This record gives sequence, C-alpha cells and structure tokens, in this order.
Amino acid sequence: MVILSIESSHDDTAISILNKLEVIHNFKISQAELFANYGGTIPELASREHVDNFYFLIEEIKKHFDISKIDVVAYTSHPGLLGPLHIGFLVASAISISLKKKLIPINHLEGHIFSPFLHYEKEKEKEIKYPFLSLVVSGGHSQIYLFKSKNNYKILGTTLDDALGEAFDKVARILDLGFPGGPIIDKIFNNYNSNEILKLTEPKTQNELDFSFSGYKTQVINLKNKGINEEKIAFSFQKQTIDYVIGKFKKAINKYHPKSIILAGGVSANSYLRKEFLKLSNNALIPAQEFSTDNAAMIAARAYILLSNKS
Ligand code: KG4
Ligand code: ZN
Repeated sequence: MVILSIESSHDDTAISILNKLEVIHNFKISQAELFANYGGTIPELASREHVDNFYFLIEEIKKHFDISKIDVVAYTSHPGLLGPLHIGFLVASAISISLKKKLIPINHLEGHIFSPFLHYEKEKEKEIKYPFLSLVVSGGHSQIYLFKSKNNYKILGTTLDDALGEAFDKVARILDLGFPGGPIIDKIFNNYNSNEILKLTEPKTQNELDFSFSGYKTQVINLKNKGINEEKIAFSFQKQTIDYVIGKFKKAINKYHPKSIILAGGVSANSYLRKEFLKLSNNALIPAQEFSTDNAAMIAARAYILLSNKS
C-alpha cells in the first residue's frame, strides 16, 4: 500500500510517501525562521506560506516519484491551526480527486504516537504491543494516553494550562533566548558545566496524571527579575520540568502495567527527555529525531495502521 500524506497543522509544510511503514520520500519546509522574527506563529501568515510551499513540494515529489502509483491519500484533519489545516485538506482533496484515490483524515496526535513505528534507513521493524501508554508532549499538547488496541484509547491525563513545548517556548522568550525555545534551551542544558541548580516548586494537580506548567513559567519570570544568570535558569527549568513529566508517567506505568511505552510529540526531540524515557522500560519506544517534530510520514504511518490488518 503506497500512501501519500500531507501535514500542515502548524508551521511545517510537509509531504511524504510511504510504502506500508517504509518511508520512501519525506519532504518538509519549516516556517520557524520566518516566525522567529515575530516570536510565535501567525496563523494567517502560516496559511499563505503553506499555499506557496505545497505548490513547490508537489513539484518536487513529482520529480522523484510517479504519483500514479499512490493508493491512498492521508492528511492531518485536526487538531491544529484552522487556516493551515484547511490548506492541507484542500491540497489532499485535490490530489485524491485527480488520482481517484481514497482520502483519509488523520488526527495529528495519533500520528505522533505512531511515529516510532516508521521504518527508515536500516531501522528494524518494531512490534506494536497493546496495551501501551504514550506520553505526548508537543507545542500544543501534553497528555498521557492508554491504547488498548489501535482504535480503542483514552486520555488519562492532560495539561491544565500550557503545553510543555509551549512552556519551553515562553521561557525562552522570557529569557531572551530566541524561538522556538525547546531546541535552544536543550542546547544550553547540554553545554551547562556547573552543578548549581535553582530549586523550582513542583505544581500540584487534583488528578495525579494531569500536568501544569504555568507555575514553572512564573518562577522563571521571578528569577529573571532577580537578575539570575539565564543559563542557570534554563538548565534548572529543563531538568525539573522533564523530571516532573517523567515522574507523572511513572505513576501511570505503575497503575496500568503497559506492555510498551511510547514517547511522542515535538518535545520528544529533547535529549534529556529521550534519555530518561528509555530508562523507564525495556519496551520503551521513541521516534527517530527526524520524526519527533511535525512531519507527514507519521500521518501516513497512522493511516497505514488504521487501514491494514496490523492490530
Ligand atoms: O509536535 P511539534 O513539532 O508541533 C506541535 O504539534 O506543536 O512540537 C513543537 C514543539 C515546540 O514547542 C518546540 O519548542 C518543541 O516542540 N521542541 C523541543 C525540542 N525540539 C522541539 N522542546 C524541548 N527540547 C527540544 N529539543
Ligand atoms: Zn505536532
């Protein structure tokens, strides 16, 4: 089964071609550089960029692949920014109508969750074992999922305020470090060569599997106003927010005893989170760095899993 997939939920314009779970082509144009000038994404501007970028990417795909071989077209239907999602839907519809192939809407977060099952380069096939628990941490979401089968899942916990990636981005802005904040703070964390850490207070939530990050942000503002070194603040923030989500996820593991665990969403690119997550279980799966942040391959992977006999 050859799947062409489209992703445009936020500021990445992406198209992939997969044969089952094998990535044949994976194209992406990021708008991050453009929005770095504004300190955040402007939906109207992102929509216009998507139109130009999709035109370019479709021309590129046609140079590399005979699109008449496509069996199915998949696209991100939600959640995300409405304008950018709409552009993706229109592009995917046009391709599916012109090729007379089925059009499949895909939930962006389900795409992230199945991203570790993408086969790429020499990576071996990974087995999907249910029930699994997934920690999804992105720019828009922070959630813990329990998947009993490919179609049967529930959300056990969610953020009550900011998403983790959003908190990274906001903290980087408060500290004048740039945008997007996640990779910048991660780099500072890895270059930090001191044992000094600023103790931050962990937020409390009524449901022990829910998250809250806005208190961390307030503490960062107070430390910055006291004139404390930015790198020390950034290091302390990354260490303690990641320890916090790992602690929450451990509680879910102890309660639900999953057969495997999956890390997903843009923040799964974080080096410290990846390391700590892999320590949690022998059956811990994380996406390749390339498929951690938004991409179209994960959308095709989810479509394939839904359409195939793979349980
Ligand atoms: O999944 P994603 O690409 O887009 C959304 O669906 O939101 O996630 C983007 C988020 C941004 O907030 C970005 O700062 C964060 O992922 N991110 C990271 C890292 N790389 C990207 N956060 C922490 N450490 C990273 N290395
Ligand atoms: Zn995402």
